[in-house]
Amino acid sequence: MSHTYDFVVAANRLPVDRVTGEDGNEEWRRSPGGLVTAMDAVMRGRDGAWVGWAGDPGEAPAPFDDAGMHLHPVPLSEQEIADYYEGHSNDTLWPVYHDVIITPTFKRSWRGAYRAVNKRFAQACADVAAEGATVWVHDYQLQLVPEMLRELRPDLRIGWFNHIPFPAVELFAQLPGREEILEGLLGADFLGFQRTEDAGNFLRAVRQYLDLDVTGDVVDLGDRAVRATAVPISIDTEGLRAVLDTDEVQARAREIREQLGNPDKILLGVDRLDYTKGIRHRLKAFGELLADGQLDPTKHKLIQVATPSRERVKAYMDLRDQVELTVGRINGDFSRIGATALTYMHQSFDRAEMAAMFAAADVMLVTPLRDGMNLVAKEYVTCCPADGALVLSEFTGAATELGEAYMCNPHDLTGLKQVIMKAITAPSDDREQRMSALRSTVSTATVQEWAKHYLAALQAAPARPEDEVGS
Ligand code: ADP
Ligand code: G6P
Repeated sequence: MSHTYDFVVAANRLPVDRVTGEDGNEEWRRSPGGLVTAMDAVMRGRDGAWVGWAGDPGEAPAPFDDAGMHLHPVPLSEQEIADYYEGHSNDTLWPVYHDVIITPTFKRSWRGAYRAVNKRFAQACADVAAEGATVWVHDYQLQLVPEMLRELRPDLRIGWFNHIPFPAVELFAQLPGREEILEGLLGADFLGFQRTEDAGNFLRAVRQYLDLDVTGDVVDLGDRAVRATAVPISIDTEGLRAVLDTDEVQARAREIREQLGNPDKILLGVDRLDYTKGIRHRLKAFGELLADGQLDPTKHKLIQVATPSRERVKAYMDLRDQVELTVGRINGDFSRIGATALTYMHQSFDRAEMAAMFAAADVMLVTPLRDGMNLVAKEYVTCCPADGALVLSEFTGAATELGEAYMCNPHDLTGLKQVIMKAITAPSDDREQRMSALRSTVSTATVQEWAKHYLAALQAAPARPEDEVGS
């Protein structure tokens, strides 16, 4: 057998995607999303293995080492991408787990593909894990892996972390195969969630559909027990600050303001182009504030960055059309020659450009209808000016920790407009006080602390780890 590892993570995606250009040349690009942002920082230099998909169809590339990690690609066929990834993961589970913002699609053939791909991931983990190793499985795409892996390798310590919300039982109830998912997850020793409410939803579902005894946060399986609790994820504050504190990024932040014509206020939105993010609600609020005359298109500029995401799933294509129509309308109504009201970019940028945008923005608009955590909110807090203002939806995991933000309910358009105006017009000492409190939270609760805490809880499970006892 090839080299094996004491620490293995499994996530649907590797931290890099293989992209083949029109000239046939291959290149590797950083994969999108918060999971990769967080886990990349955790894994660097740890001498662990990362099991995941390389982002393209067909045969997987050979395993390779990168940035102090061993990357172990798992292949997906065209059909599996359609059925397991775009289908069951992102057109069934994703909407069910995000409050059914859009109607989920249920297809029996997708479930078969989900099972088959989960089996492949479990086998890949079993192949690279050393005797007694720790295997940390991630997110909604791989919920059957813990049980499958335990069957293959009972010697392993198995954890799972959910980066997205876990739905209320009334919504989870809709899911064909709901018992299979709960049983799949209970193959782990420890289950981590973003919020206490998410862990509670899972435990309620276990009670209701598997009729198991649950005491506190521990599920009793007879021969063993599984603990399920909240361990909220965060960002690599120090790493991001190091990017921010370069002359290039500081100069670029000033240049962005100049390029926008030195407006009074720069508003910023940064999201994957996903219907969970409340981008349409945010744009509508901005458009109405311009129409009401509360905002002036020559003085208040909005930058909206939307990373391309899941572009073959219909709900995402529809969203792109709706967003781009709204952007066009707003700019049609309010822009002047050389002075665009809203700058929209459907592109991905490197960390330095993202940090410069955060540093340039006076007001950050984070308005999801539902979000597991939302790392963008924490990134803004780390990079923004001392009197920067964060408008934050109550429906994000981040809202639990970032209570000093300007909180909003994005469904309430009038309320959202009022909160945006409050963030723009608040006295600078109010903004500074709030931001200073937010910064102290984000600078101590880092992604490194999160990983340390998670892994301690995994080792101690079903008991609580030392640092939690009495807390
Ligand atoms: P999600 O995981 O749902 O995409 P998060 O807010 O938790 O949402 O994480 C998104 C991550 O992707 C953040 O690290 C953010 O900086 C990054 N990101 C978002 N938009 C872009 C973009 N256009 N280019 C590069 N990185 C981006
Ligand atoms: C969210 C999910 C991740 C996912 C990411 C990007 O962060 O929690 O599991 O990787 O979005 O989505 P994608 O479908 O492109 O992997």
